[in-house]
Amino acid sequence: SMAEIEKNARSLEKKITPLNVLHVHGVPLLIPSKEMWDKIYNFQARPDDLIVATYPKSGTTWMQEILDMIQNDGDEEKYRQVATFDRHPVIEVAFPHKEKPDLEIALEIPSPRILKTHLPSHLIPPSIWKQNCKIIYVARNAKDCLVSYYHFHRMTSLLADPQSWEDFCEKFMSGKVAYGSWYDHVKGWWDAKDKHQILYLFYEDIKKNPKCEIYKVLDFLEKTLSEDIINKIIHHTSFEVMSKNPMTNQTAVPSNIFDHTISKFLRKGMPGDWKNYFTVAMNEKFDEHYEKKMAGATLPFCTEI
Ligand code: A3P
Repeated sequence: SMAEIEKNARSLEKKITPLNVLHVHGVPLLIPSKEMWDKIYNFQARPDDLIVATYPKSGTTWMQEILDMIQNDGDEEKYRQVATFDRHPVIEVAFPHKEKPDLEIALEIPSPRILKTHLPSHLIPPSIWKQNCKIIYVARNAKDCLVSYYHFHRMTSLLADPQSWEDFCEKFMSGKVAYGSWYDHVKGWWDAKDKHQILYLFYEDIKKNPKCEIYKVLDFLEKTLSEDIINKIIHHTSFEVMSKNPMTNQTAVPSNIFDHTISKFLRKGMPGDWKNYFTVAMNEKFDEHYEKKMAGATLPFCTEI
């Protein structure tokens, strides 16, 4: 609409500076103030909220789209109007191009809501546990996640410039990036799954066999859909289709927030892209560090994808 075009044009004029980083129990989060954190921590969940939790760049948008289609029995028409980014509030983020923090937007959304979060499990608002909300966690192998996060830092004004690729690797390995340590994140949620209603999925599995993973989601949500609808969901949420659809490829987000001329949000969508970025030396160093960080963890992960 004209109003939207004007609004986008206005927001384009605005120079966006990176979101404030607030350390909460040692974890760097993108939160403006301690007061805001208190509000987030006191977020009141509803029992039928469905939460998508991930470390950034692990396939959040993909899972959001899958869940939306499942919730709406495969009816993709419903989504032609609203971009994925605007459909599901992120519990802990206030975006500079929106009038209010997503937390407040969440209050206005009718149930059942789908909410997104990148918080580590130990910083999740307690009400989510108390209400026994269903949570779907998606984990992605560390190396591809790192590569994707690096490119995301380049293209979004919400995050500080990544500096060089080598610098960014160091920061990622030491957990000095938004949402902290990848290692702690995937391990924390893995441990949490034994105590709460959490379905723990892997990006690489969804890529390899989307049908199998969608069945797991359906089981978890206690829902059945016809094979036809499931095939439709697989098609609509494939990388090829999602990257061409302006409602799912994030190009609806103003370009001063996401600059798709630098790097696309739906960039490659392929396991193993890290091989195009890691030198042999870097790979050795990464693996050695990985072994230490993941020692004792029962996660079925390997660094070779
Ligand atoms: P790449 O940068 O490796 O391409 P998030 O949504 O958590 O920010 O994750 C973004 C990553 O998920 C990007 O990874 C993006 O391309 C990938 N992705 C998004 N939709 C996808 C899909 N349908 N299939 C495969 N990967 C997808």
